[in-house]
Amino acid sequence: MPLDSRPYVKKLHIKTYGCQMNVYDSAKMADVLAPLGYSQVETPDGADLVILNTCHIREKAAEKVFSELGRLKPLKDANGTLLAVAGCVAQAEGEAILARAPYVDVVLGPQAYHRLPELVARATRGAGAALDTDFPVESKFDHLPAPGANQGVAAFLTVQEGCDKFCTFCVVPYTRGAEFSRDVAAIEREARALVANGVGEITLLGQNVNAFHGVDEAGNELGLGALARRLARIEGLHRIRYTTSHPRDMDDDLIAAHADTPELMPFLHLPVQSGSDRLLEAMNRGHTAQAYLDLIAKLRKARPDIALSSDFIVGFPGETEAEFEATLDLIREVKFAQSFSFKYSPRPGTPAALLDKQIPEAVQDERLYKLQALLREQQDAFNAATVGAIVPVLYERAGRNAGQLIGKTPWLQAVHAQLPDDAAGKVLPTRILASGANSLSGVVHDQTQERLSA
Ligand code: SAH
Ligand code: SF4
Ligand code: F3S
Repeated sequence: MPLDSRPYVKKLHIKTYGCQMNVYDSAKMADVLAPLGYSQVETPDGADLVILNTCHIREKAAEKVFSELGRLKPLKDANGTLLAVAGCVAQAEGEAILARAPYVDVVLGPQAYHRLPELVARATRGAGAALDTDFPVESKFDHLPAPGANQGVAAFLTVQEGCDKFCTFCVVPYTRGAEFSRDVAAIEREARALVANGVGEITLLGQNVNAFHGVDEAGNELGLGALARRLARIEGLHRIRYTTSHPRDMDDDLIAAHADTPELMPFLHLPVQSGSDRLLEAMNRGHTAQAYLDLIAKLRKARPDIALSSDFIVGFPGETEAEFEATLDLIREVKFAQSFSFKYSPRPGTPAALLDKQIPEAVQDERLYKLQALLREQQDAFNAATVGAIVPVLYERAGRNAGQLIGKTPWLQAVHAQLPDDAAGKVLPTRILASGANSLSGVVHDQTQERLSA
């Protein structure tokens, strides 16, 4: 027995790279380690355990892991800090990590997070490096704890994982495995726990979230539209979003849900990658540019104020100038509220990496610059169009300046306004005063004043 039996609080630092699913997973890893006495700290200095939750999507993202490990090594040498690598690089390159950075204690893939306490315990005993990158038969979701307190106002909830689409450029089907949907009851339980902790907006997550087909208590399969309708009934849940969707899985019921479920926000991230049919085919996206445009038209018919965002890849192998122009044309036609765009990055093990005619970096840079200028223009125009309007803003947290809160419009635009702290969690009508590069400023609209002066 130790003389001092107070539980020793161990310090855990998690650094998260990549997509929102990693953000969600990082929170779950913290939850699963809490019973072992680990509490989260902001920096790796003095931490007992550092977890890098990694992303393999592009080369730059993956390389960051090794440079970060190099920086952490002296900490380990000085304090005995345990180092763990989780996420998609761990899944894809587990063995390589242990070869390149043999001082790493734990390597675990995204499906193994429920086994983290056991792996950490082993490493603590000095039993040597532990590698767990299996796709276990049991689901990690059945073994991860319910969300704790302090979730904030806007939270993520993973409902679907994995990908069966095998776009020729992408590592996700290999790092996250096959498509899998959680059961509806488990999702609803988690959503209710979040709302009970003060959450007012939930973003449903999945690598292909609209491929969701979870089973409910009666054994019926629900699509994402039906799931959204069911969650919308939870008292106190003001807003529901979902990401990332694939155009091929955008079914009529989900489109209808945008029309009949006010809690479902009028914003959709629907990656198209390219406006060229030949490239869409070479990417194995499974639809044409026109099919994408038709889908957008349908969505706009169902929900006229829906705002759209997308991902684009420039410089896919063999992309000609005309094919790149087709992407610009598609962007001009749709008009996106925001977007993400990337230079094609060849990834080990993917078919596109083996294609001839890889595009030189200088050409990729030039195209990315042009594409981003157009997207920027559209984003600015979209934001500027809200100036003067009164829009419902869900306020989330303190802003940078004193007395300021930051919230979001239904269209995912950040808004800051002078407000007391206790307005966090509320949806308040807000007059938009100005639009900056990345956010809007507003003032809460005082309806009583308006009535008095009318
Ligand atoms: N499941 C989502 C995307 C997940 S990856 C979907 O299908 O849309 C996020 C984005 O990263 C992709 O949409 C794509 O634009 C980009 N991406 C993926 N692999 C890439 C690669 N090898 N090079 C450059 N960008 C890539
Ligand atoms: Fe990657 Fe394509 Fe799957 Fe999206 S749909 S995760 S881009 S393979
Ligand atoms: Fe990256 Fe894995 Fe997400 S590769 S984008 S962290 S699914």
